[in-house]
Amino acid sequence: MTAEPARLRAMTPGDLPDVLALERELFPDDPWSPEMFAGELGQPADARMYLVATEEEHPPAGPVLAGYAGMMFVPGMTGDAQADVLTIAVRPDRWGRGIGSLLLGTLTEEARRRGCDEVLLEVRADNDRARGLYQRRGFTEIGLRRGYYQPSGTDAIVMRKDLR
Ligand SMILES: CC(C)(COP(=O)(O)OP(=O)(O)OC[C@H]1O[C@@H](n2cnc3c(N)ncnc32)[C@H](O)[C@@H]1OP(=O)(O)O)[C@@H](O)C(=O)NCCC(=O)NCCS
Repeated sequence: MTAEPARLRAMTPGDLPDVLALERELFPDDPWSPEMFAGELGQPADARMYLVATEEEHPPAGPVLAGYAGMMFVPGMTGDAQADVLTIAVRPDRWGRGIGSLLLGTLTEEARRRGCDEVLLEVRADNDRARGLYQRRGFTEIGLRRGYYQPSGTDAIVMRKDLR
Protein backbone atom coordinates (compact mmCIF):
# COMPACT_ATOMS: atom_id res chain seq x y z
CA MET A 1 0.00 0.00 0.00
CA THR A 2 0.97 3.65 -0.18
CA ALA A 3 2.39 6.00 2.42
CA GLU A 4 2.33 9.24 0.40
CA PRO A 5 -0.74 11.49 0.43
CA ALA A 6 -2.75 11.72 -2.78
CA ARG A 7 -1.84 14.47 -5.24
CA LEU A 8 -4.32 16.32 -7.41
CA ARG A 9 -3.78 17.49 -10.99
CA ALA A 10 -5.90 18.29 -14.05
CA MET A 11 -7.33 15.26 -15.86
CA THR A 12 -5.90 14.74 -19.37
CA PRO A 13 -7.00 12.48 -22.26
CA GLY A 14 -4.17 10.12 -21.27
CA ASP A 15 -5.97 9.42 -17.97
CA LEU A 16 -9.13 8.19 -19.70
CA PRO A 17 -8.35 4.43 -19.84
CA ASP A 18 -7.87 4.31 -16.04
CA VAL A 19 -10.75 6.73 -15.41
CA LEU A 20 -13.11 4.65 -17.56
CA ALA A 21 -12.13 1.42 -15.79
CA LEU A 22 -12.95 2.97 -12.39
CA GLU A 23 -16.12 4.57 -13.78
CA ARG A 24 -17.43 1.17 -14.94
CA GLU A 25 -16.52 -0.43 -11.61
CA LEU A 26 -18.24 2.24 -9.47
CA PHE A 27 -21.23 3.07 -11.69
CA PRO A 28 -22.02 -0.25 -13.41
CA ASP A 29 -25.66 0.70 -14.13
CA ASP A 30 -25.00 4.00 -15.89
CA PRO A 31 -21.29 4.63 -16.54
CA TRP A 32 -20.24 7.65 -18.61
CA SER A 33 -19.02 6.55 -22.05
CA PRO A 34 -15.56 7.33 -23.48
CA GLU A 35 -17.26 9.88 -25.76
CA MET A 36 -18.87 11.63 -22.79
CA PHE A 37 -15.54 11.97 -20.96
CA ALA A 38 -13.77 13.11 -24.13
CA GLY A 39 -16.52 15.66 -24.76
CA GLU A 40 -16.26 16.95 -21.20
CA LEU A 41 -12.47 17.31 -21.42
CA GLY A 42 -12.98 19.25 -24.65
CA GLN A 43 -15.09 21.91 -22.93
CA PRO A 44 -13.52 25.35 -22.37
CA ALA A 45 -11.54 25.83 -19.16
CA ASP A 46 -13.97 28.50 -17.94
CA ALA A 47 -16.83 25.97 -18.08
CA ARG A 48 -15.32 22.79 -16.61
CA MET A 49 -12.65 21.52 -14.24
CA TYR A 50 -11.75 17.82 -14.04
CA LEU A 51 -9.19 16.60 -11.52
CA VAL A 52 -7.51 13.27 -10.89
CA ALA A 53 -6.03 12.13 -7.58
CA THR A 54 -2.91 10.00 -7.93
CA GLU A 55 -0.87 8.08 -5.40
CA GLU A 56 2.61 6.58 -5.53
CA GLU A 57 2.76 2.84 -5.07
CA HIS A 58 5.38 1.30 -2.78
CA PRO A 59 7.63 -0.12 -4.06
CA PRO A 60 7.65 2.68 -6.64
CA ALA A 61 5.88 1.76 -9.85
CA GLY A 62 4.71 5.21 -10.92
CA PRO A 63 1.61 7.09 -9.82
CA VAL A 64 -1.70 5.20 -9.90
CA LEU A 65 -5.16 6.69 -10.28
CA ALA A 66 -6.89 6.90 -6.88
CA GLY A 67 -9.90 9.00 -7.89
CA TYR A 68 -11.32 11.73 -10.04
CA ALA A 69 -13.95 14.47 -9.95
CA GLY A 70 -15.44 17.10 -12.22
CA MET A 71 -17.25 20.40 -11.89
CA MET A 72 -19.27 22.58 -14.30
CA PHE A 73 -19.30 26.38 -13.98
CA VAL A 74 -22.39 28.21 -15.26
CA PRO A 75 -22.45 32.00 -15.53
CA GLY A 76 -25.66 33.65 -14.34
CA MET A 77 -27.64 36.45 -16.00
CA THR A 78 -26.59 39.14 -13.53
CA GLY A 79 -22.91 38.48 -12.94
CA ASP A 80 -23.63 35.70 -10.46
CA ALA A 81 -22.42 32.17 -11.19
CA GLN A 82 -23.19 28.62 -10.12
CA ALA A 83 -21.13 25.46 -9.94
CA ASP A 84 -22.29 21.83 -10.24
CA VAL A 85 -20.40 18.75 -9.11
CA LEU A 86 -20.75 16.46 -12.13
CA THR A 87 -18.96 13.39 -10.82
CA ILE A 88 -16.75 12.22 -7.95
CA ALA A 89 -15.20 8.79 -7.55
CA VAL A 90 -12.49 7.12 -5.45
CA ARG A 91 -11.02 3.63 -5.89
CA PRO A 92 -12.74 1.37 -3.33
CA ASP A 93 -9.44 0.16 -1.83
CA ARG A 94 -8.63 3.85 -1.05
CA TRP A 95 -11.99 4.81 0.49
CA GLY A 96 -12.08 6.43 3.92
CA ARG A 97 -8.69 8.16 3.62
CA GLY A 98 -9.85 11.65 2.76
CA ILE A 99 -9.39 11.52 -1.03
CA GLY A 100 -13.08 12.19 -1.73
CA SER A 101 -13.01 15.12 0.71
CA LEU A 102 -9.84 16.47 -0.92
CA LEU A 103 -11.40 16.35 -4.41
CA LEU A 104 -14.67 17.92 -3.25
CA GLY A 105 -12.94 20.60 -1.16
CA THR A 106 -10.60 21.57 -3.99
CA LEU A 107 -13.42 21.90 -6.51
CA THR A 108 -15.52 23.89 -4.03
CA GLU A 109 -12.61 26.27 -3.39
CA GLU A 110 -12.20 26.72 -7.14
CA ALA A 111 -15.92 27.60 -7.42
CA ARG A 112 -15.46 30.19 -4.67
CA ARG A 113 -12.36 31.58 -6.41
CA ARG A 114 -14.35 31.95 -9.63
CA GLY A 115 -17.04 33.95 -7.84
CA CYS A 116 -19.77 31.30 -7.73
CA ASP A 117 -22.59 31.89 -5.23
CA GLU A 118 -23.39 28.22 -4.75
CA VAL A 119 -22.44 24.64 -5.55
CA LEU A 120 -25.14 22.14 -6.51
CA LEU A 121 -25.03 18.38 -6.96
CA GLU A 122 -27.26 15.34 -7.32
CA VAL A 123 -26.71 12.17 -5.34
CA ARG A 124 -28.55 8.85 -5.37
CA ALA A 125 -30.97 8.61 -2.47
CA ASP A 126 -29.50 5.21 -1.56
CA ASN A 127 -25.88 6.47 -1.45
CA ASP A 128 -25.51 7.11 2.30
CA ARG A 129 -21.74 7.35 2.14
CA ALA A 130 -21.71 10.15 -0.44
CA ARG A 131 -24.63 11.97 1.24
CA GLY A 132 -22.71 11.91 4.53
CA LEU A 133 -19.57 13.25 2.86
CA TYR A 134 -21.52 16.14 1.32
CA GLN A 135 -23.38 16.94 4.56
CA ARG A 136 -20.15 17.13 6.53
CA ARG A 137 -18.82 19.46 3.84
CA GLY A 138 -21.67 21.94 4.35
CA PHE A 139 -24.16 20.78 1.70
CA THR A 140 -27.86 20.71 2.59
CA GLU A 141 -30.60 18.72 0.89
CA ILE A 142 -32.91 21.05 -1.04
CA GLY A 143 -34.93 18.80 -3.31
CA LEU A 144 -35.80 15.38 -4.68
CA ARG A 145 -35.92 14.22 -8.31
CA ARG A 146 -38.09 11.12 -8.38
CA GLY A 147 -36.84 8.28 -10.61
CA TYR A 148 -33.93 10.42 -11.83
CA TYR A 149 -31.46 7.55 -12.25
CA GLN A 150 -32.43 5.17 -15.04
CA PRO A 151 -32.93 2.30 -15.59
CA SER A 152 -33.03 1.64 -11.82
CA GLY A 153 -35.58 4.40 -11.11
CA THR A 154 -33.65 5.49 -7.99
CA ASP A 155 -34.47 8.99 -6.73
CA ALA A 156 -31.87 11.77 -6.77
CA ILE A 157 -31.39 14.11 -3.83
CA VAL A 158 -30.42 17.64 -4.88
CA MET A 159 -27.90 19.22 -2.49
CA ARG A 160 -26.61 22.78 -2.28
CA LYS A 161 -23.77 24.61 -0.58
CA ASP A 162 -24.00 28.37 -0.21
CA LEU A 163 -20.66 30.07 -0.88
CA ARG A 164 -21.72 33.63 -0.06
C1 LIG B 1 -18.28 8.85 -2.08
C2 LIG B 1 -16.77 8.68 -2.25
C3 LIG B 1 -16.31 9.56 -3.40
C4 LIG B 1 -16.07 9.07 -0.96
O1 LIG B 1 -14.67 8.98 -1.15
P1 LIG B 1 -13.67 8.74 0.10
O2 LIG B 1 -12.30 8.96 -0.40
O3 LIG B 1 -13.97 7.47 0.77
O4 LIG B 1 -14.11 9.94 1.02
P2 LIG B 1 -13.41 10.44 2.38
O5 LIG B 1 -12.43 9.43 2.84
O6 LIG B 1 -12.96 11.83 2.16
O7 LIG B 1 -14.66 10.56 3.38
C5 LIG B 1 -15.59 9.56 3.49
C6 LIG B 1 -16.33 9.70 4.78
O8 LIG B 1 -16.88 8.40 5.01
C7 LIG B 1 -16.35 7.89 6.24
N1 LIG B 1 -16.16 6.47 6.11
C8 LIG B 1 -15.00 5.79 6.18
N2 LIG B 1 -15.23 4.48 5.99
C9 LIG B 1 -16.56 4.36 5.80
C10 LIG B 1 -17.41 3.24 5.56
N3 LIG B 1 -16.92 1.98 5.46
N4 LIG B 1 -18.73 3.45 5.39
C11 LIG B 1 -19.23 4.70 5.48
N5 LIG B 1 -18.48 5.79 5.71
C12 LIG B 1 -17.15 5.62 5.87
C13 LIG B 1 -15.08 8.61 6.44
O9 LIG B 1 -14.74 8.61 7.82
C14 LIG B 1 -15.44 10.00 5.97
O10 LIG B 1 -16.18 10.65 6.96
P3 LIG B 1 -15.79 12.10 7.52
O11 LIG B 1 -16.19 13.06 6.45
O12 LIG B 1 -16.57 12.25 8.77
O13 LIG B 1 -14.31 12.08 7.73
C15 LIG B 1 -16.39 7.19 -2.54
O14 LIG B 1 -16.94 6.40 -1.53
C16 LIG B 1 -16.86 6.68 -3.89
O15 LIG B 1 -16.16 6.81 -4.89
N6 LIG B 1 -18.06 6.06 -3.92
C17 LIG B 1 -18.58 5.47 -5.15
C18 LIG B 1 -18.92 6.53 -6.17
C19 LIG B 1 -19.92 7.50 -5.63
O16 LIG B 1 -20.87 7.13 -4.97
N7 LIG B 1 -19.73 8.79 -5.96
C20 LIG B 1 -20.63 9.85 -5.56
C21 LIG B 1 -21.71 9.99 -6.56
S1 LIG B 1 -22.77 11.36 -6.13
